[in-house]
Amino acid sequence: MSLLIKNIGELFDAEGDALVIEGDRIAWIGTGAPAADEVFDAEGRAVLPGWVDSHSHLVFAGDRTAEFTARMAGQPYAAGGISVTTNATRAATDEELAANLARHVAEALAGGTTCLETKTGYGLNVPDELRSAQVIAASGVDEGTFLGAHLVPAGSTADDYVKLVAGEMLDAVAPYVRWADVFCERGAFDYDQSRFVLEAAASRGLGLRVHGNQLGPGPGVRLACEMTAASVDHCTYLTRDDIDMLAGCDTVATLLPACDLSTRQPLPDARGLLDAGATVALASNCNPGSSYTSSMAFCVTTAVLQMRMTVHEAVRAATLGGALALRRDDVGVLRVGARADVHVLAAPSATWLAYRPGMPLTHAVWRAGVRVV
Ligand code: NIG
Repeated sequence: MSLLIKNIGELFDAEGDALVIEGDRIAWIGTGAPAADEVFDAEGRAVLPGWVDSHSHLVFAGDRTAEFTARMAGQPYAAGGISVTTNATRAATDEELAANLARHVAEALAGGTTCLETKTGYGLNVPDELRSAQVIAASGVDEGTFLGAHLVPAGSTADDYVKLVAGEMLDAVAPYVRWADVFCERGAFDYDQSRFVLEAAASRGLGLRVHGNQLGPGPGVRLACEMTAASVDHCTYLTRDDIDMLAGCDTVATLLPACDLSTRQPLPDARGLLDAGATVALASNCNPGSSYTSSMAFCVTTAVLQMRMTVHEAVRAATLGGALALRRDDVGVLRVGARADVHVLAAPSATWLAYRPGMPLTHAVWRAGVRVV
């Protein structure tokens, strides 16, 4: 079956006013209206690649409304809140975790997110990290990440816990995920502990990711670049050296503006990163503690209105940038041969994502050639 999408008002980062989907791939992009089995008239609307959300934590139970309320009243965000979600996640059944994940994936898809990464990290013991990874693997989510090194669980020390994470836990979880991540931050894991986990993960063939420089300056960026991690996520507190390192290595700087707003942190220096030549991604960081939104449109809007990214830079960071952060070349871009992940906006141009902030601008979505919105 082939589908022609015609009369496109703006085709993001591609030339023409039409494209053809065949099966799960983009088969043609150009100007005009070649023959196809079905036709969708975009009536002048803009067409983007589907969002690539390269950072979320969706295997969880419970919520943290009380913590959020306290934060809005002036309490600082601290990593320790993760333990509240860990307790709820351990108490939930596999079915409850799978249903919660599916609900959030559906919510993201409805907003145009067609490629999604999600993590373990609320189990923090071998059986609960394992079932979190299994829930991700069974869900059909594009990319799964092991984040056993999210927080030191009650009753353990960081040094003892990283030995468990880098040994028995990693062995159990590795068959179900492609990536390993570590929260390298004061209150979580230091440079040596983080490196220990990442080296063990790399030796088992997993790709690497790092949570770094979220709550203060720290060694996360340096560690990520040294280990050629695919991405270092947050990057809220960067020194000039951090920016120069990111500009000089293949690690993507993944910015999570919804998290910075929700935790009352400053917004990251996107302009400094881009001007230095670093590759930037935008992601939602959807999780119940620090960033309870899956809206990539919100992240793009914030990046443009408050982080001095251009619309083009922000949309690119939320599509191609996410793909690069996941080391994928089949998503995040409208080109022949790419997966047919297509997002038709209820708008004539991508500029409206910032010009009409907060408005529902998703008109239609195809994921791998299947219409989902
Ligand atoms: O990326 N920083 C660490 N992990 C999550 C927060 C998780 C939570 O607070 O539950 C984040 O923000």
